[in-house]
Amino acid sequence: MKDIINCLNTRYAVKKFDPTKKVSKENLDKILESFKLTASSFNLQPWGIVVVENQEIKDKLFEYSYYQEQIKDCSHLLVLCRKTDLSEKLVYNLINTLVEKSWMERNNFEWYENMMRWFLSRLDDGRKISWAEKQVYIALWNLLTACACLEIDSCPMEGFDKKKYDEILNLKEKWLSSVLVLPIGYRAEDDKHAKIPKFRYNLDDLVEKI
Ligand SMILES: Cc1cc2nc3c(=O)[nH]c(=O)nc-3n(C[C@H](O)[C@H](O)[C@H](O)COP(=O)(O)O)c2cc1C
Repeated sequence: MKDIINCLNTRYAVKKFDPTKKVSKENLDKILESFKLTASSFNLQPWGIVVVENQEIKDKLFEYSYYQEQIKDCSHLLVLCRKTDLSEKLVYNLINTLVEKSWMERNNFEWYENMMRWFLSRLDDGRKISWAEKQVYIALWNLLTACACLEIDSCPMEGFDKKKYDEILNLKEKWLSSVLVLPIGYRAEDDKHAKIPKFRYNLDDLVEKI
C-alpha cells in the first residue's frame, strides 16, 4: 500500500489542469465508490453527486465560478450536493432500503428509526441544511484522499454561484442542491502551484496530548 502521508503531501489544490488528459473510467469508478463509502451521521447519506464531463456545460459553469479555469480544463467536474428533502422521508427511505437489503425485519430497526426521527425533529430548516452540508464536506475529504491515492489531481472549491449551478444542472428536479465542486484531472506541466511548498502549522501548535 502506498504511504498515506506521502500521498497527502503530493496532492495540492490544482490551479491549472491539462485539458488534454482524461481520467479513465476505471479510476472515475473508484473515485465514485469512495464517495459512496463516505461515513455520515446516522448513515443517513443526505447527498448526491453530479459528474459533468460535457465541455459545453463546463464552459457555462466556468462563468459562474469566478472564471476559475479549473472548471473548464478539468477532466471531470464533480458537483457535490446535499439533498433538498431533509424531512422524515430521509429516515423512511434509509430504513426501507436497510430492510430490503438485510435479512432482518423492520421492527429490529425501530429504536434506530425513532432516534433518527427525534434527531431531525429538533432541527429547524436552517440547521437541517447546515447538518446536511457538513456531511457533504466529509465526502469532499474522502474524495480528495481517494484522488491522492490514485495519483489523480483535484481542487476542492467553494468559489461558485450555487444558485446558478442548481439552475444549469436542473438540480431542483433531482431534489439536490450544490454545496461544493471538485474538478479532477491531471495538472498542467506549467501549473506554478505544484512547486509551492505545502504550508501547514506545526503539529506542536495543533495537538494537545493529555
Ligand atoms: C472547502 C474548500 C474550498 C476551497 N475553495 C477553493 C476555490 O474556490 N478555489 C481554489 O482555487 N481553491 C479553493 N480551495 C483550495 C484551498 O485554498 C487549499 O486547499 C488550501 O490553500 C491548502 O492548500 P493545498 O490543498 O494545496 O494543500 C478550497 C479548499 C477547501 C477545503
